[in-house]
Amino acid sequence: MSESAIITIGGENHQYPVISGTEGEKSVDIRKLRADTGYITFDEGYGNTGSCQSDITFVNGEQGILRHRGIPIEELADKSSFLSTAYLVIYGHLPTKEESDAFRARIAQNAQLHEDFRHHFHGFPRDAHPMAVLGSMLNALGCYHPEMASNNRQQDLDNFDDAAALLISKVRSIAAMTYRMKEGLPFVWPRKDNSYVENFLHMMFSEPYALYEPATEVASALDLFLLLHTDHEQNCSTSTVRMVASGGANLFPSVAAGVSALWGPLHGGANTAVVKMLQNIHLSGDDGSKFIEAAKSGKARLMGFGHRVYKNYDPRAKILGAATEKLLNSLGHADPLLEIAKRLETAALQDTYFIERKLYPNVDFYSGLILKAIGIPVEMFTVMFAMGRLPGWIANWREIATGTIRIHRPRQIYTGPVNQNYIPIKER
Ligand SMILES: CC(C)(COP(=O)(O)OP(=O)(O)OC[C@H]1O[C@@H](n2cnc3c(N)ncnc32)[C@H](O)[C@@H]1OP(=O)(O)O)[C@@H](O)C(=O)NCCC(=O)NCCS
Repeated sequence: MSESAIITIGGENHQYPVISGTEGEKSVDIRKLRADTGYITFDEGYGNTGSCQSDITFVNGEQGILRHRGIPIEELADKSSFLSTAYLVIYGHLPTKEESDAFRARIAQNAQLHEDFRHHFHGFPRDAHPMAVLGSMLNALGCYHPEMASNNRQQDLDNFDDAAALLISKVRSIAAMTYRMKEGLPFVWPRKDNSYVENFLHMMFSEPYALYEPATEVASALDLFLLLHTDHEQNCSTSTVRMVASGGANLFPSVAAGVSALWGPLHGGANTAVVKMLQNIHLSGDDGSKFIEAAKSGKARLMGFGHRVYKNYDPRAKILGAATEKLLNSLGHADPLLEIAKRLETAALQDTYFIERKLYPNVDFYSGLILKAIGIPVEMFTVMFAMGRLPGWIANWREIATGTIRIHRPRQIYTGPVNQNYIPIKER
């Protein structure tokens, strides 16, 4: 007999089916609960709520497992590239040679931005936050491609391959131009002969009179950074993308909403917060031990530690920690912040406060340091996260758009005043 769960309300039993995932996770399907009983479930922060069934990414936070379409992140980091992983996440399988060539060609063709885009950049104040610019620009991009951004679901799906490649390509040009605008530097156009990450670094750092050609190690490190951020199940920004898509919105505003959700310091903004924290520790002359004590007493938060899902080492943090060290060694650079980070990690992993609360390094603990070693300015860190996460958002949009999914509309428990009369202004 298939498994079920019984919920007893007011002495009456109600039976609900259990849904199992392919990795054996279980959930009680309470979709009929309210209709049966008038009750809803309450789960602020959604820690116990499965908002969807998804084929894309599997995370087991207790065991520190992350797999895309069944393939462990460690294997992808070792053998794949960012664009192949993006293809895997979006289309469900690793690309054949022909599929890979076609996907890469589509991305390469789309790197250039419409000339009118310059006006949008000039409309922002110089000190605008790059995440604000990125979110606005991704929405604006849809206006230049109305055939892909129609909100007619079938039409948007018919154009999906082009829209996905266009976004993955242009997000990189927009990110680089945002940085150039902020610095008052002339825009640099993409080059046809460059790889995805080389082109981004070229648009960021080349000058009209001096070509920037990154060391192979730098380009590989950036590719790895992007690959490790490709997707991560139902996190805050991906859930936001699915929520927006569930209302029928096209791909462009859906991913722009993902950018907004990613911006916060508890989500994508954490990589920036980690580097600022390490800089402050360094400037104060602390070796990290005072900061650990402050974190334990609640006076500070050890940014880059702890995770809603991982109660074990985030596998991406392990890979990034080793890659950061390798990159710095190969460049012959030393970074005192890396030394502080390693000391903080060692101390925290031996401390009962962190052990009892199962607080381990998350992806952001080392991601800021590797970006810093690559030469990316701190204010661009969260934009880099968005560039990496874009394929995951696109894959999740597609899952919503091709499924029979109802508009996402949670309920609430109302706690405000009950029925009141309107008070005229003179009587208030
Ligand atoms: C990621 C995060 C938001 C998860 O939050 P959460 O699942 O809601 O966990 P909680 O905030 O309930 O924390 C549980 C306990 O651990 C403590 N804790 C959690 N993260 C901590 C941290 N980074 N430093 C110190 N203490 C921490 C909390 O104070 C709480 O302690 P208490 O039980 O004594 O009250 C949280 O760990 C955090 O703020 N981390 C730093 C920011 C970060 O790196 N974000 C990127 C995530 S990828």
